[in-house]
Amino acid sequence: MSARTPFVAGNWKMNLDRGAVRSLCRHLATLAREKPPARLGVFPPFVYLADVVAELSGSGIVVGAQTCHPGESGAYTGEISARMIRDVGASHVIVGHSERRQLCGESDADVRARLDAALAAGLDVILCLGETLAQREAHATASVVTAQLEAGVTGLSSDVVARRLTIAYEPVWAIGTGLNATPAQAQEVHALLRARLAALAGDAAAAAVVVQYGGSVKPDNIAALAACPDVDGALVGGASLDIRSFATIARLGASSPRPARSDR
Ligand code: PGA
Repeated sequence: MSARTPFVAGNWKMNLDRGAVRSLCRHLATLAREKPPARLGVFPPFVYLADVVAELSGSGIVVGAQTCHPGESGAYTGEISARMIRDVGASHVIVGHSERRQLCGESDADVRARLDAALAAGLDVILCLGETLAQREAHATASVVTAQLEAGVTGLSSDVVARRLTIAYEPVWAIGTGLNATPAQAQEVHALLRARLAALAGDAAAAAVVVQYGGSVKPDNIAALAACPDVDGALVGGASLDIRSFATIARLGASSPRPARSDR
């Protein structure tokens, strides 16, 4: 069983313009040459996806989309299919981000349909999940994230889970708010998710899956989060738009490759 390599990914959301995207890509390519300890990824808006794939070609930086439509093609005005994302050279897609769940009304079933479409198109997936503040205060965190995980993963083969899936635990109350889970809160949920993954897909797959933390990750809080044994990098929103912040997070977002659970 190989060790997990932490994965630090920037979710650019609906930010930047073409010039800013190009400049950020140039800096990212330089950063990748410095070989930070984490694997790096960026998730630009759709219209810049092909540009970013070209700019970062050969850098080793993962490029993906922020969502996809569950259908293959057809009369879905304004939508983008997983196959189109693959066709322009991207390798990954985020599904289930809380902003999609909340602003676009995506249910667990909608998220699963997108995940299945992405896998079928040859894309690897970051599955986002997390509880709202009201759910945390009602002590429902464990049941909420477990249900989201089960909806996303049940029925997938161990091999697919191990090789093509990343989980991003993003407490909704921490996204874009400046609040973030304490390392202890993050570790508790990450360990719970990994235990549930073991039940769903086996110990080896659970030990191999990268589980990122997301929600107001910044240069000054990443090291403590990354030191948690089950936190394997981060999904970064606001701080990924600034190359200095992202570079620091990339450097501190991985202490050393995590031993697989069975090696500990
Ligand atoms: P944030 O966003 O870092 O700006 O809180 C994280 C995310 O939504 O993935």
